[in-house]
Amino acid sequence: MKPREFRIAPSLLSADFARLGDEVREVIAAGADLLHFDVMDNHYVPNLTVGPLVCAAIEPFATVPIDVHLMVKPVDRIVPDFAKAGASIISFHPEASEHVDRTLSLIRDHGCKAGLVFNPATPLVHLDHVMDKVDVILIMSVNPGFGGQSFIRSALPKLAEARRRIEASGRDIWLEVDGGVKADNIGEIARAGADTFVAGSAIFNEKDRGAAIARMRTELARATMAA
Ligand code: DX5
Ligand code: ZN
Repeated sequence: MKPREFRIAPSLLSADFARLGDEVREVIAAGADLLHFDVMDNHYVPNLTVGPLVCAAIEPFATVPIDVHLMVKPVDRIVPDFAKAGASIISFHPEASEHVDRTLSLIRDHGCKAGLVFNPATPLVHLDHVMDKVDVILIMSVNPGFGGQSFIRSALPKLAEARRRIEASGRDIWLEVDGGVKADNIGEIARAGADTFVAGSAIFNEKDRGAAIARMRTELARATMAA
């Protein structure tokens, strides 16, 4: 098996929105592999954030892919707008879509990678008939809606199960984890099977974002060396 490639995706939810362009530039210079963009609608989740307009505004600064996490219901009508706004990945929650297969196709038809997101209590059975259309599996390790929550440990066996499903599919599917990821637990999360790590507060609440990301990479290297 070829060694897994790790990606760190700072979540802009914890950035300073008054200086978003600078925050984007800074976190990319600090070593971000992706920019995680959390979209909340005060309906599917109890919070309200940003939409395609803000995504398009940061796109000129984004020299790494924009990873859009849709926490909105309905999903389909906003997909083309995010594709136009510069998204590379668009992920959504199966509970928020009437027709999961159709939404996955819609995202891919717009030239983006399609991701399916699993809340802590959402079972992986939603993958059963769509593995051939999924490019990213995103396991939530908090209940969606807010940054700065604690990692829910039931995400670890779930990541392991998702990793088994990916291996069985033989496809190059990314396994992303979101919520409560820190340098202290990132090694254990990688060992469970994740390859893409969203971290909001653990990066943006640090003065030195470069050091925060570097510490995560050190822990990832240590975890895989020990494996
Ligand atoms: C939560 C969001 C996360 C959030 C993670 O609903 O999807 O992306 O920003 O924040 P931390 O890393 O602080 O848990
Ligand atoms: Zn997210």
